[in-house]
Amino acid sequence: MTMQIEFILNGTRRRMEVREGESFLDTLRERCGITSVKSGCSPEGRCGCCLALVNGQPKTTCAMSPTYANGKHIQTLEGLDDDERDEIAAAFTATAGLQCGFCIPGIALRAKHITDEDPSPSRESIAKALDNHLCRCTGYVKILDAVELLAESKRGGMIPAPCTDGRVGQPLARIGSPDTVLGLKPFVDDTVLPSMLHGAVTLSPHARAKVLRIDTSRALALPGVKCVATAADVPAERWNGMLYNDWPAFIAEGEEVRYVGDVLAAVAAVDRHTARQAAALVDVTYEVLPPTLDPAEALLPGARQINPQHANLLGHTVIQRGDAAAALAASAHVVSGTWQTQRIEHLFLEPESAVAAPMPDGRLHMRTQGQGIFDDRRQVARMLGVPIEQIFIELVPNGGAFGGKEDMTIQAQTALLAHLTQAPVKLTLSREESIRMHPKRHPITLQYTMGCDKEGRLTALKAHLLGDSGAYGSVGAKVLERAAGHACGAYRVPNVDLEAFAAYTNNPPCGAMRGFGVNQAHFALEACLDELAKKAGLDRWEIRWRNALEVGDTFGTGQVLEKSVGIRKTLLAVKPHYEAALREGRAVGIACGVKNSGIGNGVVEYGKARLVVGEDGRITLYNGFTEMGQGMSTVLVQLAVESTGLPASTFVPKVDSTFNLDCGQTTGSRGTLLGGRAVLDAAGKLRRDLDAGRTLADLAGTVYEGETSIRDTTALGAKVDKIKTHTTFGWATQVVMLDTFGRVDRVVAAHDAGRVLNPALCSGQIEGAVQMGLGYALTEELRCEDGMPVTFKLRDLGVLRAQDMPTVEVILVEDPEPEGPMGAKGVGEIGLVPTAAAVASALEMFDGKRRMTLPMKDSPAAQAMVGCYPPEGA
Ligand code: FES
Ligand code: FES
Repeated sequence: MTMQIEFILNGTRRRMEVREGESFLDTLRERCGITSVKSGCSPEGRCGCCLALVNGQPKTTCAMSPTYANGKHIQTLEGLDDDERDEIAAAFTATAGLQCGFCIPGIALRAKHITDEDPSPSRESIAKALDNHLCRCTGYVKILDAVELLAESKRGGMIPAPCTDGRVGQPLARIGSPDTVLGLKPFVDDTVLPSMLHGAVTLSPHARAKVLRIDTSRALALPGVKCVATAADVPAERWNGMLYNDWPAFIAEGEEVRYVGDVLAAVAAVDRHTARQAAALVDVTYEVLPPTLDPAEALLPGARQINPQHANLLGHTVIQRGDAAAALAASAHVVSGTWQTQRIEHLFLEPESAVAAPMPDGRLHMRTQGQGIFDDRRQVARMLGVPIEQIFIELVPNGGAFGGKEDMTIQAQTALLAHLTQAPVKLTLSREESIRMHPKRHPITLQYTMGCDKEGRLTALKAHLLGDSGAYGSVGAKVLERAAGHACGAYRVPNVDLEAFAAYTNNPPCGAMRGFGVNQAHFALEACLDELAKKAGLDRWEIRWRNALEVGDTFGTGQVLEKSVGIRKTLLAVKPHYEAALREGRAVGIACGVKNSGIGNGVVEYGKARLVVGEDGRITLYNGFTEMGQGMSTVLVQLAVESTGLPASTFVPKVDSTFNLDCGQTTGSRGTLLGGRAVLDAAGKLRRDLDAGRTLADLAGTVYEGETSIRDTTALGAKVDKIKTHTTFGWATQVVMLDTFGRVDRVVAAHDAGRVLNPALCSGQIEGAVQMGLGYALTEELRCEDGMPVTFKLRDLGVLRAQDMPTVEVILVEDPEPEGPMGAKGVGEIGLVPTAAAVASALEMFDGKRRMTLPMKDSPAAQAMVGCYPPEGA
């Protein structure tokens, strides 16, 4: 059924037919071509990405019926006059108030409304006004700066010009900032192609069931449906995966579903609504079977094999150095306990989306937002049974990922639909589908026993780690391996005896998420340090200082550290803040952190880049890693600028398969390390030509190749003369201070970035990570029952909002990394490695309770965030 509506959109009267059940967000995006409104959680109305002004009032349009708009004035960013648009974009650009940018147009429109209503809003009132917005990247710090700057500008103040100085160390404005702020930067779901079809998927409602029959007849009979694909339509290989080919693109009749994100069918139809309707009409007959949900049960002898391609033990890591049992027996002090961490959702704001379109030359053009587009390409080609050259793949820089876009979700199904229909197909997941499908952060049970001598010097660690990797392998084995490798953290531990296990279950798969197992290990480890300090009569900072690694010491994996060990610099950086807080009588927590930069562990890693000089004098900078808001494209340009002396505006970053720049996933804090080295290699060649007197006009059409690799790391446990598990590490110390109610009031985060290539982007990474770490510590959890998440509501997932954020002070220290580009190393993950542990430390000082389970929902700090504490009148 349809109905007529009429409204004024950005000053123009619009009259149109809308479908019953359509949201006004759909109307704006699909019928009016407005792209500044985005779908982050439709129809929940809780992320703020779809904000528009309705008769001057901010409204989330995904939760609004089109009939509500009847007769009203609707304003989006597109309808503001040019001066106001420029002013808003300039405020966010100058403050670096954006990362991936998916949430920003909604926030930018809110900023206009805030500053129109109140020319001098306080920071608190801005945070309050942003309560209906979520940002997963920035930690809100620089967003609040942007709104304050906008208000100042409206009062007659000046917005500083964006930094255009692209040299290393300068806060060069993020490339493409103004367009991103205004919603002009297209994300995958903004793609519109002629005759494009829309896709949808049918997912399993069961964590485990046998598929007896898949009947697509009702779906196919729906008018507008062009194709319903099932396992039977896959031309070549159904099973894919990052490390093991254990994950089928479709579950076939006769096979079992293994989790609630398994795909039974994919539909292509003339519009998204019809595709979704048809996907719901696919009739699947199941024989429901009891799932295995406990990883310990999965590893019992004789347990049922969960995934037919692999035994239930997905990964097993052993690290043994010295004699831990004897050292513990001889220790002056010993602590032990079992810590439990939770499953959490990445909650990148942009749900997964892919577009596949047949090309005139017979190739398939894929637009994806994956964290490793060449891995996507390989897997799609394998499924279709075509050479990889038949797939032209292009990265559309994505709206956040944090590890959650490493595995494919719907790339294969989208490609198959385009292949079968020979038409362009776009498939975008709903928020619920996104949460059901992609891998999560591992819940890990950690049993730790740790000892020290009477001076507080660590003697030994004995540990047992068990992680729930869910239904598919993803990179679960590597996550537990990384947790094991970092189990001793930033400390000298001479005797180690530990084992880590990753197990299959029928829960949602767990894979990469920012920190990659290291956060979990630090939660247990740092608590042991606090407790040992207590027993040894030492201050918490002091015990860390006494044990902090230095050049020449042995890291947890057995690697002797030869360079760039910045942990002591970060400890010194926080010391005055820590001591001042103690003097003030505050509860203050402290934790150190270390995170590898580069995958290491014997993996050969590549960085590849190409600089292509265009006829117009601009240079396209190709590389193989994914820009997902972390600012990698911008810092790669800065390295090219530093090397060539050309202005930043000369360079246009791009990621696609024009060249074979396969570097694997953008993971392990390695994009800057490897991409940067490759760019320097290419830029050095260009520089030589420029130094020889050639101009860019002379060089038009020239391609400069940049290649680098890391081949000297050794596998964990390898019997080699020289253990070098990782090229380099990021180091950090964080201090968390509570107020008198036990709420988190201030976080001081000191981080060693090797060399800070862009201070604005670098501090933004840390601020955003601290926000994620505080949520991890206190409120975030994806609880599942019978393998199904109990909620898909953003509010219930516990991600912190602007009002929940304490003051965050980032201190960047530099301990240059000789193997890094101009001394740099990655900072993408380390920002939240110590956070939960530092919060637990502060809470223990506050109320004497050592919390060993995440999230620490019972704590006053968490209760304050859900509005239950302190009690009124306190
Ligand atoms: S998409 Fe409307 S609030 Fe999230
Ligand atoms: S910048 Fe806010 S979600 Fe990425």
